[in-house]
Amino acid sequence: MDKLLVVGSTGLVGSKIVPIAQTFEFEASCTFNTRQSSFPRSSQLDVTDRDATLKLVRAVDPDVIINSTALTNVDYCETHKAEAERVNVGGARNLADAARDNNCRLVQISTDSVFDGTHGHYTETDIPHPINHYSNTKLASEEIVSDLPNFAIARPSVVYGWRSEVADHASASTKAMNFAMFVLEKLNKNETVSAITDQYSSPTLADNLADALLRLARARENGIFHTAGRSCLSRYEFAILLCRSFGHRSSLVQPVSSNKFKQVAERPRNSCLQVEKAEKTLGIRFLTAEEGIAEMRRQSQRG
Ligand SMILES: NC(=O)c1ccc[n+]([C@@H]2O[C@H](COP(=O)([O-])OP(=O)(O)OC[C@H]3O[C@@H](n4cnc5c(N)ncnc54)[C@H](OP(=O)(O)O)[C@@H]3O)[C@@H](O)[C@H]2O)c1
Repeated sequence: MDKLLVVGSTGLVGSKIVPIAQTFEFEASCTFNTRQSSFPRSSQLDVTDRDATLKLVRAVDPDVIINSTALTNVDYCETHKAEAERVNVGGARNLADAARDNNCRLVQISTDSVFDGTHGHYTETDIPHPINHYSNTKLASEEIVSDLPNFAIARPSVVYGWRSEVADHASASTKAMNFAMFVLEKLNKNETVSAITDQYSSPTLADNLADALLRLARARENGIFHTAGRSCLSRYEFAILLCRSFGHRSSLVQPVSSNKFKQVAERPRNSCLQVEKAEKTLGIRFLTAEEGIAEMRRQSQRG
């Protein structure tokens, strides 16, 4: 079996990659930073520590690294710019150097928000133009990784998925809860939830993304791949779909326009992605929001 190193296995995306790595004939080793990981072959790693990163990658000697670390809280990044730079750019640089030294492939996870959102339905040939600091750091990490001889960059959009250990860890810099779990928790308590009507994205089921990332780990092609859900929706429309699927009253979701909703960092108006290139190259089908939510519901029933 080839060896895979999943860096950031405690995050939403990393935690979905590890359990299915074996079906892609990978033996997965993992890293965690502040949260203990329950996966086998796990080590603590702070990716901003260059020596530790180089040392760990040398010891694991992976064929492929997937970097699923980041400071993902967009508003936190806007007010903690140096820290965001250290983790999102410095961490990617350390892992890229380690990948080069060990002659292995690096799969880097980026974001739809490298685009400014003025027109939406972006393809991989569209020119990025970030409008907040988080997105600046993600674009800078893409530039570092794309210098490698063996790499892939995946751009998902708002990632959601079922997590049974919801709200287990609240940190300001990463997301304690993804948007879907946040909405469901409110609805379960019969509380109202406000959702923005005029910012559009391509909600991406974390399990579907993990599948795409493992295919990218196996692929031979270098380059950027849009790996997002097929639907282009506002958070409001997405929350209404959650209500319908999970049997909650839609009236609990309150529509709000972005100019009435306090967000520290500016957000793209429409960062929806076209996914045909990845679907064709990887032989995968990305799910619509309805399909992804239905899968979440199936997982919720299993506990
Ligand atoms: N979530 C989204 O909506 C979304 C959308 C587009 C793109 N993305 C990208 O997808 C990737 C995965 O996101 P996610 O939602 O899974 O993130 P997440 O749930 O917030 O998890 C972040 C991960 O990064 C790790 N981490 C943070 N700082 C670290 C450091 N200094 N050293 C080592 N590890 C560190 C965390 O480890 P500990 O928890 O152990 O501290 C955790 O495993 C990121 O690159 C993100 O930018 C996410």
